[in-house]
Amino acid sequence: MAAAALIGACILAIFIAYKLYQRFRYKLPPGPRPLPYFGNLYDLKPLLVRCFTDWSQIYGPIFSVYFGSHLGIVVNSPELAKEVLKDKDQLLANRSRTHQINKVSKNGMDLIWSDYGPHYVKVRKLCTLELFSAKRIEALRPIREDEVTYMVESMFNDCVKPENKGKALVLRKHLEMMAFLHITRLSFGKRFMDSKGVVDAQGEELKDILNSSIKLSSKKSIAEFIPWLLYLFKAESEALAKNNTRSDDFTKKIMEEHNLARQKTGNTKSHFFDALLTLQKEYDLVEDTVIGLLWDMISAGMDTTTIVVEWGMAEMVRNPRVQQKVQEELDRVVGKDRIMTESDIPNLPYLQCMVKECFRMHPPTPLMLPHKAGTDVKIGGYDIPQGATVRVNVWSLARDPKLWDAPLEFRPERFQEEDIDIKGTDYRFLPFGSGRRICPGAQLAINLVTSTLGHMLHHFELAPPNGVRVEDIDLMEQPGTVTYLRTPLEAVLTPRLPADLYKRVAVGNI
Ligand code: HEM
Repeated sequence: MAAAALIGACILAIFIAYKLYQRFRYKLPPGPRPLPYFGNLYDLKPLLVRCFTDWSQIYGPIFSVYFGSHLGIVVNSPELAKEVLKDKDQLLANRSRTHQINKVSKNGMDLIWSDYGPHYVKVRKLCTLELFSAKRIEALRPIREDEVTYMVESMFNDCVKPENKGKALVLRKHLEMMAFLHITRLSFGKRFMDSKGVVDAQGEELKDILNSSIKLSSKKSIAEFIPWLLYLFKAESEALAKNNTRSDDFTKKIMEEHNLARQKTGNTKSHFFDALLTLQKEYDLVEDTVIGLLWDMISAGMDTTTIVVEWGMAEMVRNPRVQQKVQEELDRVVGKDRIMTESDIPNLPYLQCMVKECFRMHPPTPLMLPHKAGTDVKIGGYDIPQGATVRVNVWSLARDPKLWDAPLEFRPERFQEEDIDIKGTDYRFLPFGSGRRICPGAQLAINLVTSTLGHMLHHFELAPPNGVRVEDIDLMEQPGTVTYLRTPLEAVLTPRLPADLYKRVAVGNI
């Protein structure tokens, strides 16, 4: 009995000594005190980005935070962002995958969740040279213009209904539909809507797969950091596995349809699915990678565009001066007897600055995606052990009063006064990240967001709901990896162009 107790005590002592050795072996950045197993989970506020911004005031521009026993590092200055995303970029270019993400991505066989290595380099090259080349982005432009004009038409039909006259509309449902139709058409090469404007059966299934995956994964998100808690979420894990099989089957069915169509006509279209099937041999892509890439585009490119456009519209309602200035520019350059197209954008510099200001104040991924250390590395003089994840708080960088004049003021003119890059070379302003893992869809997203906001402001005047003061519009974020407005925006839309300019400019499959 005594011997067993002694052995138990020895094991416990060795375990504690090992944990202490782990902790003190490294000079880690400071941070809130973690609890065993739970780390700092007990202390985190649901809106992580604001919580981390507050903590940076206490612990400084680099701090440690434990998600369960997993070490995370958050950085909060342009100098440290540059160290993470440029100087030590390659050492910090892995991704950490939860159990669920491992299953969805087949252990990182896609792009977003792949670790940095030969597979990543190959797939990234394919994205840069093929999927997001300037030529393909231009070839896919008619799809963007089709879906944006369809959105304008449905908003117009909604706001001219007699029962809606003068009433505020919830804009998010229109934006979500535009983003869904755009990204699924771009990826799967199909418009999942029938001629009556109703999402078809395949589209409904796709929506259901996407919604189930979000719902199920958010239920067990905390448990992902505390392995023994995962047992409590067995049902969710099983449902997620079923959902993965459903999404694979769904994609394979569309793959067959495209293969058949190409065999019949001999034609290859510009959408991502045909591009991937054509390049599959040249790039030696297994089926899991083709499927993974298509779903990556949907998960990375759908909510992000909806979010930034909704924030942009909220800012237009709150800032009538800016709204009017954009409209004056549109009226001067485009006029009132035609609609704008993407080729007008180079002649609309104020609109472009307004879009940049939206990305500055409301980056949809405010903490980017976490980067994982592939090896021990030093950042800001501190040790970052192999396996730790590093987040850059791009939201707080873009609102730091030490870096920006009146940062909480929505003032597009700041981008006229100073030429500030949006694609990763100015470390104060990183809505798309920077370095090796920078968003490959950045230019596509900028085109779509600029076109959507441009069309909206050319076609409509936006005003707050009757009786609501602009200063009372809720500008708080909803918790999540991507930050929607907490309260969906409601606005009164007043058409400002002749009625015949509110028609969808439809194109066939491209
Ligand atoms: C408003 C729109 C968007 C924003 C703000 C945005 C932002 C980001 C950010 C911050 C990252 C992570 C960068 C990093 O880890 O360092 C990222 C990655 C990525 N984005 Fe975007 N994105 C947007 C739209 C899109 C679109 C439209 C697509 C594709 C159609 C896309 C595809 C991707 C992919 C595939 C990755 C993973 C890249 C990698 O891991 O190498 N994004 N995006």
